[in-house]
Amino acid sequence: MKSQTIIVTGASTGIGKAIAGLFLDNGYNVVINSASEKNLRATFIELGHHERLAMVTGDISNPATGKLLVETAVSRFGEVNVLINNAGIFEPKSFLEVDEQYLDRFLSINLKGTFFTAQAAIKQMLLQGEGSVINIGTVLVEHAIGGFPATAPVASKGGIHALTRQLATEFGKNNIRVNGIAPGIIRSPLQAKSGVDNADSLAGLHLLNRIGETQDVAELALYLAKSNFVSGEIINIDGGHIAGHHMV
Ligand SMILES: NC(=O)c1ccc[n+]([C@@H]2O[C@H](COP(=O)([O-])OP(=O)(O)OC[C@H]3O[C@@H](n4cnc5c(N)ncnc54)[C@H](OP(=O)(O)O)[C@@H]3O)[C@@H](O)[C@H]2O)c1
Repeated sequence: MKSQTIIVTGASTGIGKAIAGLFLDNGYNVVINSASEKNLRATFIELGHHERLAMVTGDISNPATGKLLVETAVSRFGEVNVLINNAGIFEPKSFLEVDEQYLDRFLSINLKGTFFTAQAAIKQMLLQGEGSVINIGTVLVEHAIGGFPATAPVASKGGIHALTRQLATEFGKNNIRVNGIAPGIIRSPLQAKSGVDNADSLAGLHLLNRIGETQDVAELALYLAKSNFVSGEIINIDGGHIAGHHMV
């Protein structure tokens, strides 16, 4: 059977890299992206399977990057079956200190990047008569934490959750499934970038009293890519964060 083709943005590190590795292990053709040529090339070399792996460096907030990702997938592997909009940034900053330029960074990379990459992929999926788009949001959209000031990234991720449901409703009739994944704290380079030195110190946010691993998210992405009848869902992968709290 012909291999399916997946595009994963923000795949040089963390969750995106784990997704790329798991899909390669499962026989998919994979096109990876990040904004840093150096980071992406290192991951490209590390992942191997180069007959089924392509890379496209580019800032995902530029709609030309999404178009180039789709063109690369089609010219190299023939189609785009799955898009995983994973590229994203997340940092804390007090609401009263957020200025327009700072907010625009999150809206551009997280929301606009997801929006226009999905647009490029869905154009191709319509020609194919099928496809699956998976957007990475955050559990904080539905269950905020006051102690972690994150209005700018959470507002951008809330837009991604809304976009996910809207796209699912507009393109379900075209056999295009659109779903979201809302992770809790997942061990990745993102925590250090957010000023959290010890990711495990956040374990208590989850009922399981531990943080998640990138492989956990990759396995959910693989399930969603393969599923035939799931659409319009935002699936939490959060160790129970949404369900409730410990007493202390
Ligand atoms: N880890 C968590 O606890 C957690 C929780 C909830 C949601 N998430 C979401 O999960 C996704 C992956 O995060 P992660 O934890 O794996 O973080 P990460 O290790 O920091 O990965 C982020 C990825 O996005 C890429 N990226 C950043 N800006 C980009 C841009 N402008 N254009 C293209 N690529 C860009 C980075 O690549 P370069 O730096 O090489 O460009 C990197 O590959 C993000 O959307 C994040 O918001 C993570």
